[in-house]
Amino acid sequence: MTAIKGRDSFKSKFGVIAAAAGSAIGLGNIWKFPYITGENGGAAFLFVYLAFIAVIGLPIMLSELIIGRKAHRNAIGSFKKLAPATLWKYIGIFGVGAAFFILSFYGVVAGWSIRYIFIAFSDLSYNGAESVNAFFNSFIKNPLQPLIYQLIFMFLTGLIVIIGVQKGIEKFSKILMPILLVLIIVLDIRALTLPGASDGLRFLFHPDFGKLSFEGVLVALGHAFFSLSLGMGTLITYGSYINKKNNLIRVAINVTIADTLIAILAGIAIIPAVFAFNLEPSEGPGLIFITLPNVFKSMPGGDFFSVLFFVLLTIAALTSAISILEVVVAYFSEELKMKRRVATVFATVLISLLGIICSLSLGIYSNYTFFGLNVFDLLDFISANILLPIGGMLISLFVGWSLGKYKVFKEIAHGGSLKGSFLVIFMFLVRFLAPLAIFFVFIKGVGLID
Ligand code: PHE
Repeated sequence: MTAIKGRDSFKSKFGVIAAAAGSAIGLGNIWKFPYITGENGGAAFLFVYLAFIAVIGLPIMLSELIIGRKAHRNAIGSFKKLAPATLWKYIGIFGVGAAFFILSFYGVVAGWSIRYIFIAFSDLSYNGAESVNAFFNSFIKNPLQPLIYQLIFMFLTGLIVIIGVQKGIEKFSKILMPILLVLIIVLDIRALTLPGASDGLRFLFHPDFGKLSFEGVLVALGHAFFSLSLGMGTLITYGSYINKKNNLIRVAINVTIADTLIAILAGIAIIPAVFAFNLEPSEGPGLIFITLPNVFKSMPGGDFFSVLFFVLLTIAALTSAISILEVVVAYFSEELKMKRRVATVFATVLISLLGIICSLSLGIYSNYTFFGLNVFDLLDFISANILLPIGGMLISLFVGWSLGKYKVFKEIAHGGSLKGSFLVIFMFLVRFLAPLAIFFVFIKGVGLID
């Protein structure tokens, strides 16, 4: 089979890394990581998360890039091409399902970020609330306001996907991600110099494994997938746009380091501030929206930094959201033969509708719960802690057992050389360690075994 003609691709090496990092770095690092770390007891959770990134995340990221670049197709088409007439293609279906769920709640939170661009925290009474906490809670429970911002975000996401891979994604990511990094470091400095910040540092870096439950371990695993954009074919899809000359190992390592660094820096900006302002680390999804305004209030030029921060957070969310939507669109257009434009509009509308339900589940629909979770938390739990780990496990099994050593070697080395020991370790990880670890954490984390 030949490559599909007219398929877009990334231009420069840096563009590849920037786009993949743009997918990985998003609300997962800055919004989700601090709050789940807070909910799961701090340092112990962080350390388990880091271990999962190294032994599971990194090899699976490389696996996805290998599959995508080799097959040159979307998340489902890739499996059809590499292993025709087998059941492997159903991995892609998990991915498309996860993409739907993730983007629906992701768009809601990104909408909050857009709303926060327009708030002057130095004078919150102007916004009709006497505390940031009260403001946040009344905003997310409002039946209409958050929907408007969520829909604006989804519209932008759809628009960029229509513009196309190269022009849209590459250009954005390259310039803006470094600015975001600098801004987070500024916030770190402010947070660390607040009185009482040291308690937060201890919470974040001094582990007490007694505080970590097995469900917490599953959340750490799920987040390793979520944060690195793994387990649903995002990086298969992006890998399919990567030029054969690029070094996949380097892409995987750089993206993993950048993503992890940003998460830790975001943790250092948030958790010490939580302690300094006497807030609760286990506050939940609102954590950064309640903590950061206090940080901005306490710094010179806070209103300016706040606007800049939420603009960049929104853009970081956009570069991730387009990569999620791209999974669905590539599937609709290449497998179901829809026109790309039609596929994009169709997927964006469906996901936005599910997103509206997510948003309302925090307010007027909060009484409807499933397994004790509202729709927002339920979709987050199902996608991050169930669909992505299972998808990731199958992807690593596919590369380890179906693709096999020789093809993996050829795709990574691409005519060049590769250290033999690297291949041995990589194959061991994807054949045995990663899938078994995921399987074990999964069945124990969801309570299937004691
Ligand atoms: N990795 C993104 C983030 O951290 C979210 C994401 C998940 C993107 C899955 C693509 C696929 O915000």
